Amino acid sequence: MSRFPSGWDRRPGVRAGRVTAPAGRIAYVNGRYLPHGEASVHVEDRALQLGDGIYEVTLVSGGRPMDEEGHLDRMERSLRELGIAMPMGRAALKLVMREVIARNRIPDGLLYLQVTRGAVKRDHVPPADPPRPTLILTMRAMDKAVLAARMEEGIAVSSQPDIRWGRCDIKTVQLLPNLMAKQAAQKAGGFEAWLVDEDGFVTEGASTNAWIVDAEGRVITRDLSNAILPGVTRRVLLEAMALAQMPVVERKFTLAEALAAKEAFISSATGAGIPVVRIDGQPVGEGRPGPVTRRIQALYRHQEGRQSGAKNT
Ligand code: PDD
Repeated sequence: MSRFPSGWDRRPGVRAGRVTAPAGRIAYVNGRYLPHGEASVHVEDRALQLGDGIYEVTLVSGGRPMDEEGHLDRMERSLRELGIAMPMGRAALKLVMREVIARNRIPDGLLYLQVTRGAVKRDHVPPADPPRPTLILTMRAMDKAVLAARMEEGIAVSSQPDIRWGRCDIKTVQLLPNLMAKQAAQKAGGFEAWLVDEDGFVTEGASTNAWIVDAEGRVITRDLSNAILPGVTRRVLLEAMALAQMPVVERKFTLAEALAAKEAFISSATGAGIPVVRIDGQPVGEGRPGPVTRRIQALYRHQEGRQSGAKNT
């Protein structure tokens, strides 16, 4: 089986191991729009050598970035926390985002943005005279049928110990604990890992926020702190639920509570309200997506429709 996602291929006879994207895919790197397979960064980029960078993943729907201000706010916050300068002004960045979407001609997909501290002689200490930050944007199509099936049928999650660092609120490119947890979860038959802290509380998913619905129908998700990423989709859902007057509590919940919950779901830019129907092999509630999760899916669809300009939402 190919090691690369479907739609990708290795260009025979070009350069060993070189990966090319479907024709026409364009990446942005430091001021240049390049064919995806030719886009690259310096060998001494600090993200490559030290994980010294941050990222954002934004849903693109109808050719427009969803929840854009939320993603840009979080990006600015991550950079500020690490003392990395904004690579360009916000208005200019929005233009680049639109240009990347337009050049890729992908109306529905995922926009990936990364900012690193830049390329400079390797040293753990960030240089006093900082280099120009590296800015990378790429875009890929989303398999809407796969997402629709996940939204409809739900997924299984597997609990894994949360072995991450003390600043999970910063969206850094250092994702080893996340990918190890996800890999272990998939080995155990789960699509996502639910990370559990030393006190038995669920923090979040490896790349999603975690939610449960208790016996009284209250929606519960962990409160913000350094222990979780402040999900943009999480905030959009909380605001929509408040408007819809749904009962919501932001607090810690244990794995035991999750196992006893009526419903559970996850949220991220790659899926707002994907039902969780099994945790560690045990059914959640009746083992199928419940009415609260369906309502949350509809709330996000409504938001998405408003932002993308889609009709009938
Ligand atoms: N992940 N928690 C973690 C650890 C995440 O990595 C993500 C996003 C979220 C959800 O955040 P948002 O709603 O802003 O997407 C929560 C992205 C999608 C990723 O790494 O691909």
